[in-house]
Amino acid sequence: MMCYLGLWYLFFVPCTLAYVSYVPEQVHISYGENPWEITVMWNTLNNTWTSVVEYGINGLALRAESKHPKKFISPGTNGSAQFIHRVTLKKLTPDSKYIYHVGSILGWSEEFSFRTPPEDQTTWYPRLAIYGDMGNENAKSLPRLQQEVQRGKYDAILHVGDFAYDMYMDAGERGNVFMRQIQPIAAYVPYMTCAGNHEEKFNFTHYRNRFGMPGNTEGLFFSFNMGNVHFISVSTEVYYFLQYGLKMVVKQYEWLEKDLQEATSPQNRTLRPWIVVFGHRPMYCSNNNTDDCTYMETMTRVGLPGGFFGLEEMFYRYGVDLLIWAHEHSYERLWPIYDYKVLNGSYEAPYTNPKAPVHIVTGSAGCREIHDNFKGNAPAWSGFRSTHYGYTRMNVANNTHIHLEQVSVDLEGMVVDQFWLIKETHTAFTQL
Ligand SMILES: *[C@@H]1O[C@H](CO)[C@@H](O)[C@H](O)[C@H]1NC(C)=O
Ligand SMILES: *[C@@H]1O[C@H](CO)[C@@H](O)[C@H](O)[C@H]1NC(C)=O
Ligand SMILES: *[C@@H]1O[C@H](CO)[C@@H](O)[C@H](O)[C@H]1NC(C)=O
Ligand SMILES: *[C@@H]1O[C@H](CO)[C@@H](O)[C@H](O)[C@H]1NC(C)=O
Ligand SMILES: *[C@@H]1O[C@H](CO)[C@@H](O)[C@H](O)[C@H]1NC(C)=O
Ligand SMILES: *[C@@H]1O[C@H](CO)[C@@H](O)[C@H](O)[C@H]1NC(C)=O
Ligand SMILES: *[C@@H]1O[C@H](CO)[C@@H](O)[C@H](O)[C@H]1NC(C)=O
Ligand SMILES: [Fe+2]
Repeated sequence: MMCYLGLWYLFFVPCTLAYVSYVPEQVHISYGENPWEITVMWNTLNNTWTSVVEYGINGLALRAESKHPKKFISPGTNGSAQFIHRVTLKKLTPDSKYIYHVGSILGWSEEFSFRTPPEDQTTWYPRLAIYGDMGNENAKSLPRLQQEVQRGKYDAILHVGDFAYDMYMDAGERGNVFMRQIQPIAAYVPYMTCAGNHEEKFNFTHYRNRFGMPGNTEGLFFSFNMGNVHFISVSTEVYYFLQYGLKMVVKQYEWLEKDLQEATSPQNRTLRPWIVVFGHRPMYCSNNNTDDCTYMETMTRVGLPGGFFGLEEMFYRYGVDLLIWAHEHSYERLWPIYDYKVLNGSYEAPYTNPKAPVHIVTGSAGCREIHDNFKGNAPAWSGFRSTHYGYTRMNVANNTHIHLEQVSVDLEGMVVDQFWLIKETHTAFTQL
């Protein structure tokens, strides 16, 4: 467009910078209410009034649509509006590669694809990449993750809180840039999340609006199944930002108890023996800082002052196999632990039939807050520590074996830690 500057301009056409774009960006997917439902989300600068996904196995013959994309303005700013689109594809054919594009008659994205899992979930053993604390700047793990996802190495991603640093900043533009950065991952495999402390601003509004997790809790706590694994995402942050309501702590606690009750019914645990919980703030860590679990008890572990709503006891009682945390910008693997007591399987094979949940802390994906170092002496419950940038791979082998690896980005993808979690039976630890 041409803007002639001159005296006449003061009286006639104001020369404003008004952009218009209906082209979808920030495309990302997540699981719906079952593994054959995929929720597709994207943003447009301007309103397209409707949100369409054209998709299919051999072409774009199918169509799913929703109306009224959500107008979103980063609160507390004069940032411009954008529109957030959300469409769920249902009853997808198992074990198929789908292609899709998103948009409306006003403009379409390029084409993306995803795979659906097989019909028999009892013999589908998922492979995931897992990390927390990945920012816009210094996202050290991002290139390798983009490459590995494109090469089909993973079925899904778990991003264990703390995105962009922070999504609300620069009137939300930092969130937009981050969501564009992860599109080469998140448009191809379900990008499953939980909220971290960096999502807190304005009652987690950026997190709640930008991600479309299953359940009706705006992604604050929810569960989903992948093959023989039941995943549970929890918000550790509801314990730390009580200004948004104590009721969130209570609601999550009650929901969690019910979810674990169902997941551990004899029939369900036979179908899906593995239960994996992920949340942002670790219950244990040995980092050298003065504000986290090194110096004070984590409230998600011990509960609010007075001991209410602590979660460690519940995870122990229901026999949760693996707990995944982030928040510390490092990687730490713990020996099986309950209430500071190490409860190894056996001395030689601590992770074979452990007598308590196994924890890992994997918050080293890379962000502008760089590393968190460790205290000099590792506590007896700490099995391995690394301050390299990197992420975790979780490969389920079958109903008794899970393999975990820690990838170092500093060492060009070298695996710096790995272990097998082996369980012949999956029961409440209180029964052992
Ligand atoms: C498109 O969005 C921009 C930014 O919010 C706004 O300035 C512009 O007026 C919009 N244009 C149309 C045609 O809606
Ligand atoms: C938003 O605009 C109003 C009016 O121009 C101004 O007073 C206010 O400081 C602006 N707020 C921010 C966060 O930029
Ligand atoms: C914060 O968001 C939660 C979840 O949407 C809602 O239940 C709660 O009432 C909100 N709290 C405040 C103070 O707005
Ligand atoms: C088994 O899990 C499903 C959800 O996956 C739940 O709806 C059902 O109630 C559970 N069964 C039992 C007996 O709790
Ligand atoms: C747990 O196993 C590890 C590795 O074998 C060992 O170093 C540690 O002492 C064991 N702890 C207990 C309490 O058995
Ligand atoms: C821990 O942090 C303190 C204060 O920053 C520093 O003086 C000390 O050297 C650190 N210790 C280790 C082992 O990094
Ligand atoms: C489960 O996987 C492990 C590791 O690959 C293997 O050693 C074991 O034999 C498998 N068990 C069954 C029952 O297939
Ligand atoms: Fe954090």
